[in-house]
Amino acid sequence: MTRIVVLTGAGISAESGVPTFRGADGLWEGHLIEDVATPEAYERDPDTVLAFYDARRRALRTVVPNAAHLALARLEGAIGGDLLVVTQNVDDLHERAGSRNLVHMHGELRRALCLACGSRPAWDEDLIDRPACPDCGERMLRPDVVWFGEMPYELGRIENAVVAADVFVSIGTSGAVYPAAGYVALASAFGVRTVELNLEPSDAAVPFDDARAGRASELVPAWVDEVLSARRAGAERR
Ligand code: OAD
Repeated sequence: MTRIVVLTGAGISAESGVPTFRGADGLWEGHLIEDVATPEAYERDPDTVLAFYDARRRALRTVVPNAAHLALARLEGAIGGDLLVVTQNVDDLHERAGSRNLVHMHGELRRALCLACGSRPAWDEDLIDRPACPDCGERMLRPDVVWFGEMPYELGRIENAVVAADVFVSIGTSGAVYPAAGYVALASAFGVRTVELNLEPSDAAVPFDDARAGRASELVPAWVDEVLSARRAGAERR
């Protein structure tokens, strides 16, 4: 059985209408990264940071998964636990498309993190009004998103899956943020075949074995079809 690890970034959600991070002007929806995505920014000006993520959480209600998210869910439906999707995205479009074997390494907009008790409750409302934590009652909830300088989630699980995979596929990510940006080098070092599906080739430190340029909504379904027909052909030969 072919084991596949897929890493996704903002590019897979772009065609759903979720903005990517690195526009030409280096701003995130009009904000400097260091003003909204660092622990220091939150210490300095929590209202600005909470309002920024509240707006992004609300915006999720207006978007739906696209053909790329749906194709990955279709692949999981066919090969089950042989596929792990690791996303850097904090939106919920993979799970809404049907992906279940999924890691949100940079956290989730629809979850809060309690700075008092450490719980991570599912969260759909605004945080700016300092609601109480459902677990401990303290009013110290922040978005459960990983900021610059913080440790992403489940790194051990991800690295173990990458090195044990047959194929590592990177979709819609610029390869600018580590540790995710290093997974192609890790995969290559362990002899794992690497594939990139991105609007334009990224600046990966190690070249992909197969780099395809185009829109995720076209490239991902086509790649999933290829994987499934290769598996069918393999099964028929046996
Ligand atoms: P970026 O905004 O850096 O990169 C998005 C990538 O998607 C670019 O390489 C685009 O070329 C590509 N792209 C855009 N539209 C596409 C489409 N329709 N089809 C395919 N590809 C397309 O976003 P990420 O690489 O995800 O981290 O950024 C990584 C991390 O940086 C984010 O998770 C976030 C940010 O800092 C944290 O918040 C910790």
